[in-house]
Amino acid sequence: MTPSTDLDPCWQALCASESLQDGGLAHSFELLYQGRSCRAFAVRHQGRVQAYLNRCSHVALELDWLPDRFFDATGQYLVCAAHGALFLPDTGACIGGPGRGPLVKIPLLERDGVLYWQSGQDFMPAAT
Ligand code: FES
Repeated sequence: MTPSTDLDPCWQALCASESLQDGGLAHSFELLYQGRSCRAFAVRHQGRVQAYLNRCSHVALELDWLPDRFFDATGQYLVCAAHGALFLPDTGACIGGPGRGPLVKIPLLERDGVLYWQSGQDFMPAAT
């Protein structure tokens, strides 16, 4: 993975594009959301990549039922392991179960074989 050097420094290199397969395992990462340490994940669905906080809109629990497994058995929806809320992979909108709104979306960019997430007012790199 060779990060681009001409991107605005707000873009944080995450992983190689090839590490995300359509409807497959996610790439999990840590960040600060509004000053608090949170887990987040990136997935690929229908060729496009998306990233969200790993926090359900029903109760603030992590969604994955096994590490990095967020898709349901069909590979079409993101599912919360706790009570089964379903979310659209492209928007994070809740479309079933007890979720109370969308997942928190993190701006993500795919460029030259590398994924980047965008830091800003709400999202900051985790302390190392
Ligand atoms: S915590 Fe996710 S559905 Fe209840």
